[in-house]
Amino acid sequence: MQSSQQYILANKDRFLNELLEILRIPSISADPAYAGDVRRAAEWVAKNLQAAGADHVRLEETGGHPIVYGEKIVDQNAPTVLVYGHYDVQPADPLELWDSPPFEPVVKDGVIFGRGTCDDKGQFFMHIKAFEAMLHSGELACNVKFMIEGEEEIGSDHLGIFVKQNKDLLKADVILISDTAIIANDIPSIDVGLRGLSYLEVKVQGPNKDLHSGVYGGAVANPINILCQMIASLQDEFNRITIPGFYEDVQELSAADRAAMAQTPFDLEAYQKELGIAAVHGEAGYSTIERASIRPTLDVNGIWGGYIGEGAKTVLPSVAHAKISMRLVPNQSSTTITELFTKHFLTLAPKGVQVTVTPHHGGEAYVMPTDSIAYQAAADAMEKTFGKTPVPTRGGGSIPIVALFEKELGIKSVLMGFGLDSDAIHSPNEHYGLFNFYKGIETIPYFYDNFYHLNQQ
Ligand code: BES
Ligand code: MN
Ligand code: MN
Repeated sequence: MQSSQQYILANKDRFLNELLEILRIPSISADPAYAGDVRRAAEWVAKNLQAAGADHVRLEETGGHPIVYGEKIVDQNAPTVLVYGHYDVQPADPLELWDSPPFEPVVKDGVIFGRGTCDDKGQFFMHIKAFEAMLHSGELACNVKFMIEGEEEIGSDHLGIFVKQNKDLLKADVILISDTAIIANDIPSIDVGLRGLSYLEVKVQGPNKDLHSGVYGGAVANPINILCQMIASLQDEFNRITIPGFYEDVQELSAADRAAMAQTPFDLEAYQKELGIAAVHGEAGYSTIERASIRPTLDVNGIWGGYIGEGAKTVLPSVAHAKISMRLVPNQSSTTITELFTKHFLTLAPKGVQVTVTPHHGGEAYVMPTDSIAYQAAADAMEKTFGKTPVPTRGGGSIPIVALFEKELGIKSVLMGFGLDSDAIHSPNEHYGLFNFYKGIETIPYFYDNFYHLNQQ
């Protein structure tokens, strides 16, 4: 009988062609205009999962986009792996910066270009194909449950409700997720942390209409000027966040943990060169890796108001807006941080303007202990296929549902991702290497095998 690895080798081209099919569906969860495409993507995933051999495949309807569920129970006594991923993608704009259309994927020099190639279609799809290979070869020793959602990029609100209402259905020993990155193709790594998030929008309202900036300028508060001053004051000269109480709950790393982190391979020059920056920037006293993983942040994601058309218009705008995100670390609470921000931000406003703060989504940080069976199973699997022990890293991004899985289901997640930070997720020309796609498919069966055996010991 063909082994799963032989099956993968023999079906490589078909796997890729199937991935290209789902990549052509513009499943942008944030934009209601694409709701039909989001559903079409869910149906496609369900059909593919069914063809791969899963049982009870269905779309679970929610108040938003559907969740794809399917399972294979091989033995009631065997350990169960719950695979989580997301078939929704970020909006593709700015379109003019793409070298090829975002939903017409192309393979160039061993790399697939298109929205969702890495985040997360290319990655969750590896799990369906690895499952197909294990099932076909008779190697599948663990039970598997698939839960692929369509709202990760907008905060997973409906999945959160679904999880709370379906605890029995989702019983498992571990959650396996590929939605993160490795350090480099020759430096495998596993994210053992995710940051939390508090995302909100602010509005500064000044005069009741746009005014002539000559007639009124200097005498009436300009909401954009004020907003800029308010935002600028949120960080001090050490790039520390000035919101009272912001750092209160932050979990500091031990000196030993920081020393271990300092050993993580990192090429500062290459980092700066790739981003086209002359220097890095951040909180005093912390390294670049620390700033982007174990330290909380505050960033303006967008700011607008006034006249932004061609040429010059002399106008004192009536209103200014900004979208602000704060990345959080273990032990910080996103609701507390949102409250602290709101309270402080309102006190910054001078009398001549009215400020409102509207919270969007949020979520908590997550950490995975490296001394767990699940981490060991993933590390051994990567060691097998990469020929090197993976480095544990703390990721800077957020997957808020992961902390919720732990809280509601009591199950830890292993973040066995295969992307690269340079894959341009959320950006124009998002891409995913064929090396990474196939490496993922090859590695996953070893995870199942290791997880099964480690659970027997
Ligand atoms: N896959 C990413 C998260 C990620 C990327 C984690 C790289 C670690 C490394 C996920 O799809 C994502 O983009 N999450 C959002 C949060 C969400 C609430 C919009 C994020 O991190 O901004
Ligand atoms: Mn993702
Ligand atoms: Mn994303």
